[in-house]
Amino acid sequence: MKVLVTGGAGFIGANFIAHCRKITPDWEMVAFDDLSTGSRDNLAGLGVKLIIASVADVTAIEKAAEGADAIVHLGALGSVPRSVKDPVASHVANLTGTLNVLEAARKNRAYVTFASSSSVYGANTSLPKSEFDWTRPMSPYAVTKLGAEAYVLAYQRSYELPTLAFRFFNVYGPLQAAGHVYAAVIPRFLDASLNGRSLVVHGDGQQSRDFTYVETVTAALHSAVSRRLVDPDPVNLAFGTRTTLIELIEQIRSVVGAEVTVEHVEGRLGDVRASQADGIRMRALFPDVQPKTLDEGLRETVAWFRSA
Ligand SMILES: NC(=O)c1ccc[n+]([C@@H]2O[C@H](COP(=O)([O-])OP(=O)(O)OC[C@H]3O[C@@H](n4cnc5c(N)ncnc54)[C@H](O)[C@@H]3O)[C@@H](O)[C@H]2O)c1
Repeated sequence: MKVLVTGGAGFIGANFIAHCRKITPDWEMVAFDDLSTGSRDNLAGLGVKLIIASVADVTAIEKAAEGADAIVHLGALGSVPRSVKDPVASHVANLTGTLNVLEAARKNRAYVTFASSSSVYGANTSLPKSEFDWTRPMSPYAVTKLGAEAYVLAYQRSYELPTLAFRFFNVYGPLQAAGHVYAAVIPRFLDASLNGRSLVVHGDGQQSRDFTYVETVTAALHSAVSRRLVDPDPVNLAFGTRTTLIELIEQIRSVVGAEVTVEHVEGRLGDVRASQADGIRMRALFPDVQPKTLDEGLRETVAWFRSA
């Protein structure tokens, strides 16, 4: 089976490829990535082919998808603040890019699974978030994810393409980049606390997130691809935990085993206040995927940060 992974040199993509190499070594894995945020180093030692190109390049993605049985579509410009600063770049990579991936899949009758985002719930303050709740994106990034998942699901009806759209919540774990301006909160906090710097909290720190360990995400992606699982509605890839940033800092203190200092700065535009998945559909569709606790996941991530 040939599996094309867009965004394969990124945090989740490289973890997914490593997971597949381990448990299904007979799968031919191909990474497709423009290296805008990902890195070749993430794939070191995995023995996979890396095609360096953008999903916005129709010819490149169509060529890469030739003969693919499945496409795991993770390639996108992440980060809400990045999209607020440059909405057109996010639109081209995330929305036009997804349409190109779907067209390439259609030519090969390839299965497609896609990484949408909890950010699509946006201004909807109800908790936990069910996939059937209304959506109201608050940033260009969230708009691109909502549009892209709608395309992914509409291709089932329009072209009988087998697809599945996940809504990832806050994924964390080894390989997640800490050192750039749009870094996610857990790698930022771990990097700061392990290097004796203050943890910078935007706003009061009472904003909450449903953190998912990357191994849980790669297990779900693998299960979806193995079974060619199709569903007409999006699936929250999270299990219904809710942790405030202040609570997260307490956990980091205990896992790192050192005192950490916290600095509060202004809140960020487009940031969602509270996030927690309704994990009912996830548990029903993926009884084979068991989540790791935040404590377990943080311990493994800290171990990776220390070794890296
Ligand atoms: N990490 C999370 O918490 C989270 C939450 C919700 C959704 N997601 C989605 O999951 C996917 C993977 O995210 P990640 O956390 O691994 O981020 P990441 O930035 O590490 O990975 C994204 C990868 O896509 C590549 N990329 C960007 N634009 C591209 C383009 N035009 N063509 C080809 N490749 C391109 C990047 O170089 C990078 O390697 C993304 O689609 C992201 O939006 C992630």
